[in-house]
Amino acid sequence: MSPAAFPYQKVLLKLSGESFTVPGTTGIDYERVAAIAEQVKVCHKAGIRIAVVIGGGNILRGQSVADLGMERATADYMGMLATVINALALQEACEKIGLITRVQSAIEMKNIAEAYIRRKALRHLEKNRIVIFAAGTGNPYFTTDTTASLRAIEVGCEVILKATKVDGVYDKDPKKNADARRFKEISFMDAIQRGLKVMDTTALTLCMENSMPVIVFDIFEPDNLKKLIDGVPTGTMISSTSELSYA
Ligand code: GTP
Repeated sequence: MSPAAFPYQKVLLKLSGESFTVPGTTGIDYERVAAIAEQVKVCHKAGIRIAVVIGGGNILRGQSVADLGMERATADYMGMLATVINALALQEACEKIGLITRVQSAIEMKNIAEAYIRRKALRHLEKNRIVIFAAGTGNPYFTTDTTASLRAIEVGCEVILKATKVDGVYDKDPKKNADARRFKEISFMDAIQRGLKVMDTTALTLCMENSMPVIVFDIFEPDNLKKLIDGVPTGTMISSTSELSYA
């Protein structure tokens, strides 16, 4: 790995809950989780410190439950619990292949995971352990993308690697528009002004205000994380200084 090609030593990997399942299905697909753990291992072997934030959409999406009439706060707490299930699944998959991990939960559940303590998370990262942050921010009304932005800033990560099922950010929905074009780079301001659904606005604003770059890439391609750290142009880079360009 050339440092110029991938100039980051400490990253926050944001995994959508959907990345834990086969597209179009729900629940946990253990082969998918194992495949993600392998990608994490490649990154770890390259000497990169890794923190992880996981969504819970494969199990339960707070917003969808709220849309059915449940109180939003309750629905969001259910969603946060879903992220804990995913965190434990990833921990297990990582430890099976020799990675040392710690799960920290934003909602105290001592029998299952450590509580989120920033200084402890920093120590784990210093010791090259993979820290998996569970239960979102611990507060309703915040997404796991916002959690990723917040934790990345708190523990001093240099970039957020946002793993999704699409290969980057497009100027319009590529599923509905055959002429949609993928950005190679775009600034936070452009992404917000164009209303691109990269992350929610709270998450994007937090990243923009704290100069935290975000790389959006497709985690379903087995080698993408490796490509990224090898400096192969992959996905879309969003940062304060990015000049608008297409892939
Ligand atoms: P160092 O202090 O750097 O040695 O970190 P450590 O994580 O190895 O030490 P610690 O004694 O804090 O943790 C040992 C094990 O217990 C690790 O697997 C932790 O994840 C786990 N652990 C620590 N605190 C808690 C907790 O409150 N609840 C649960 N369930 N596990 C915990």
